[in-house]
Amino acid sequence: MHSSLMGLVAAAAAVVATAVPRPPHSHAVAGTGAVKCPLVFDGRVKAATELSDFDSYGTSLFNPDYVKGQSLKWSDIIKFPASAGSARFDDAAQHKPFEVTISDSSIFQTQKGFRRAGLQFQGDTNNDSPATKGIKTIHFSVKWDAQRALNLSHEYLNVWHEAADYSANQFNFEAGAILGQSGLARDTWKVLDRKNKQIWSTPILKTDWQNFAITLDFNKNTLQVYYSKGDDALKSVTSAVSNDNSGGGQYQIGILKKPTGTSDVVNAGYQESRLNEGLIYGSLFIEDSASACISL
Ligand SMILES: *[C@@H]1O[C@H](CO)[C@@H](O)[C@H](O)[C@H]1NC(C)=O
Repeated sequence: MHSSLMGLVAAAAAVVATAVPRPPHSHAVAGTGAVKCPLVFDGRVKAATELSDFDSYGTSLFNPDYVKGQSLKWSDIIKFPASAGSARFDDAAQHKPFEVTISDSSIFQTQKGFRRAGLQFQGDTNNDSPATKGIKTIHFSVKWDAQRALNLSHEYLNVWHEAADYSANQFNFEAGAILGQSGLARDTWKVLDRKNKQIWSTPILKTDWQNFAITLDFNKNTLQVYYSKGDDALKSVTSAVSNDNSGGGQYQIGILKKPTGTSDVVNAGYQESRLNEGLIYGSLFIEDSASACISL
């Protein structure tokens, strides 16, 4: 697994090195970013992947059983958008973007308040995961789908890390109206710390890929956010801010939509019916940021 991943990185780097430079301002269809640090988990979906591959351990990069409505398979939840282009660290010849969707059936266990579908990397164990030690950076790019728009009157978790005892999330990457924080803009992507304090935000763009990276230092208890749009190189947009990263647990990537009109968000509240919402993802991976390594 490890050596084949390294082979993939080398191959991706080789492709980038020989790519013909394109004129500035052209609408890039392929990502030109190269992964330069050792991969811990690679969530970049291969170009040949079929939807049914998400349903079994042998063929999915993710846990096929979680975190989703029981009546759904991941092949019902995931879509392959036709014309999204490639995110920054995806190579069109090797990878393709994927969309995570929610519907009225996206009820996990008895959590009737939420609509949720969250991918977990295979191997990202709740305790002692390699991705919760040392210094790790999670990379992800998102693209808005106007056909399956999120309703920004609600609060959405899109990428987050939940502690092993489920008592807190070390960080949340969110959209929409954060419950109890009406002072925050709705139409932004936001990074919140463990105390649900916003540490950074940027407007949601409706046509461009937006690229994010969050470095978690599990030794120093800090997190740092990087951002770019389109095919631009990532830039640091926060310092390494203090955050309690303890407690292990797992990353989750997808959509968790909270209800409105309740204080019991897990079990109650309002969700409109005939839901058809989604968010497109690409360039998803976790790299080892020991010695300050980060792919920009
Ligand atoms: C968006 O959510 C609000 C709050 O739940 C709801 O009143 C509204 O009808 C929703 N809009 C759409 C288009 O579903």
